[in-house]
Amino acid sequence: MNRMKVAIDGPAGAGKSTVAKIVAERLGLLYIDTGAMYRAVALKAIQAGIDLSDQESLTRLAADLDIRLNPDGRQLRVVVNNQDVTDQIRSQQVTESVSQIATIPGVRAQLVKIQRRIAQTQGVVMDGRDIGTQVLPNAEVKIFLTASLQERAERRMQELAAKGEPVNLEELKNSIAKRDARDSQREFSPLCKAEDAHVIDSTSLSVSQVAEQIVELCKAHIGTNLQGEE
Ligand code: CDP
Ligand code: CDP
Repeated sequence: MNRMKVAIDGPAGAGKSTVAKIVAERLGLLYIDTGAMYRAVALKAIQAGIDLSDQESLTRLAADLDIRLNPDGRQLRVVVNNQDVTDQIRSQQVTESVSQIATIPGVRAQLVKIQRRIAQTQGVVMDGRDIGTQVLPNAEVKIFLTASLQERAERRMQELAAKGEPVNLEELKNSIAKRDARDSQREFSPLCKAEDAHVIDSTSLSVSQVAEQIVELCKAHIGTNLQGEE
């Protein structure tokens, strides 16, 4: 069980990271948020004033960064070149820039290398856009998690409101739709469902219902009950 690989892909706000953390905890696997790695490159590119269309400089930047995802209880701390950037990578500016940087093949190659290396030595629940198709094509369980655009935008709005950052729902919908389009239409490793992925539409499901479905799929794959359950 401990070497099991679970891939969770899907559009922004589908609930991938929330659910992946729970599944990882239930199965005793390491949670890896690949979006955080793309966000880390975007943050450093903005800070260094690199033009977002300068593919060569961005590829070099991605190769030079020391990006670590350090488990901290249920959360992951994102540390780049020894600096904790966990909160900074969630800024609006990073969110608006990240999908452009994620189109660059050289940046993707650097990050995929790190992601595969982590999964080589331990079992993981990894979430992103290309995990089931590119990063871990041999993952034992693959999930394509979706929800309606309206629902995903409402979820994000609630999160931002809780942080004291009210936003307009229509603006949020536009920004999410724009990022989804860029992620799905890019040439290299676009967001798409792996042939053997299970589709879960979470529009009218709770977090625990989705997590339960995924845990059950993993159990079914193993064909035995998890140790320590019940
Ligand atoms: O959590 P949220 O849905 O806002 O996004 P994220 O998972 O943090 O990912 C941010 C961005 O990184 C995505 O919109 C993609 O452009 C990119 N990404 C990617 O291209 N491939 C991945 N495996 C993960 C993220
Ligand atoms: O990682 P991704 O962008 O797919 O989504 P997320 O960062 O996990 O955000 C999803 C938000 O929707 C969180 O605030 C969750 O509490 C909430 N949510 C969910 O994830 N799944 C549901 N079935 C219902 C709500």
